[in-house]
Amino acid sequence: MAGRRTRGVANGGGLRAELYKGRTTSYVILACIVAACGGLIYGYEIGISGKARFSSIYREFPSSYHRCYAIHAGHDCSNGAQRPTTLTSSFYLAGIAASLLASHVTKIYGRRLSILCGGLCSLVGAVLSGAAQNLAMIILGRIMHGIGHGFGNQAVPLYLSEMAPAKIRGALNIMFQLAITIGILWANLINYGSLQIPDWGWRLSFGLAGVPAILMTMGGFFLPETPNSLIERGRYEEARRLLTKVRGTEEVDAEYEDIKEASELAVANPFKAIFQRKNRPQLVMATMIPFFQQFTGINATIFYVPVLFQKLGFGTDASLYTAVITGAVNVMATLVAITFVDKWGRRALFLEAGVQMFVTQVAIGLILAIITPLTKSSAVIVLIVICIYVSSFAWSYGPLGWLIPSEIFTLETRSVAQGINVAVNFLFTFVSAQAFPAMLCHMTYGIFLFFAAWVLAMSLFIYFFLPETKSVPIEKMTSVWRRHWYWKRFIPDEDPPALPSYRQDRKDPTLSNNLKFQE
Ligand code: BGC
Repeated sequence: MAGRRTRGVANGGGLRAELYKGRTTSYVILACIVAACGGLIYGYEIGISGKARFSSIYREFPSSYHRCYAIHAGHDCSNGAQRPTTLTSSFYLAGIAASLLASHVTKIYGRRLSILCGGLCSLVGAVLSGAAQNLAMIILGRIMHGIGHGFGNQAVPLYLSEMAPAKIRGALNIMFQLAITIGILWANLINYGSLQIPDWGWRLSFGLAGVPAILMTMGGFFLPETPNSLIERGRYEEARRLLTKVRGTEEVDAEYEDIKEASELAVANPFKAIFQRKNRPQLVMATMIPFFQQFTGINATIFYVPVLFQKLGFGTDASLYTAVITGAVNVMATLVAITFVDKWGRRALFLEAGVQMFVTQVAIGLILAIITPLTKSSAVIVLIVICIYVSSFAWSYGPLGWLIPSEIFTLETRSVAQGINVAVNFLFTFVSAQAFPAMLCHMTYGIFLFFAAWVLAMSLFIYFFLPETKSVPIEKMTSVWRRHWYWKRFIPDEDPPALPSYRQDRKDPTLSNNLKFQE
């Protein structure tokens, strides 16, 4: 039922998209490069936040050990349950606060400034932690990193979704996730290498985060603003010129008008507006999708892989093999998402992956329940099943967890919503990093069945509640909710007219008739 209705919506949006002309220009390519830098830094962070790196820090600064130990206790359950630790919590708490702050900066001063802040703060974080003389410097570095990631993850997906032509918005936005997966792979390899340098290897791991941070900072300096942000801030002439350049054509009227119309609904307080009834469907998605992303169990499952490699007799090299195998699967499968997201749509990827993730999680749980202790051959089978599971995450919840929230909101609330999305994502990534190792110790195979149950729940949620957004112009997205079988009751039939006194000072010189801005 839901599927049939939403297909119609996608077609309607697709018809509007037909009026949008343009090609893939160098600006759009540059946008991808910035995305790549933002994603690389975040992936790098996920990849290096491991036991090995942190334990060498404790060796160097032993007085801090009692405050920081028990990070990533691995499969060794003798350490007991994990406790929130200064190094992880400083990063995530700073990230949560920064993503909410970034939503203001992005809206009021533009997307570029947030990207610039993200790059600069990450750079300072890399320098501080790489050159740290004491634990306080490392923690300050982690806080700066957290702020950088909060800004970067808030602004970059949004920047991409606004820059991209509607027809390839999915593919371009997923460059961010592709970069995350490459960052994870790269960090794991660096981590492995830096472990061979016991005394200062951790400095290398921390310091190298500075490379993508420099690139992102340069992106913040040199990239153009998005046309949507310029129009939102009343810079009409500049926006039209930019749109012409970005799309590589003079025929930008339809798109320009749509952005303009969307900007007329701008409100004084977007934080308040986002809780209004008419924004309920999007708000539900911006909180549920990042929550679900973490409850797919991706980080817990990847965390379990070294255990299998040790079982297979790879000893201390287990982490390297984990990195190469799951990392490569993750990168390759993200390319599948890039190829098909604008052809098959978001729902198809979510739903197919839902089945694949459910079956593989149940299979892992059952194998671990039946064969105890694991034999070598059963460990190989579990490893193959995990790779099948990782691939389905990589073409669904991984990339779509960043894409959907950045494309479903109206211009008035988009920036705040993306801030909420990042904050929820960071919160549950943090919770999972703390809870999953202990859960694995206590629930053993049951943890995979636990995640299978969540995957089932989220697939039902997607099937019934997520409309298709493929090819729908970003500023025409309200139409998908208006036609949805459930969400339509939340959306007023017509968007309210612009407030009478709204921005009378902002006459659009690119239109011959400014009457619609007057009382
Ligand atoms: C998620 C991370 C996850 C990564 C794996 C990201 O989108 O936010 O939690 O580790 O994908 O590729």
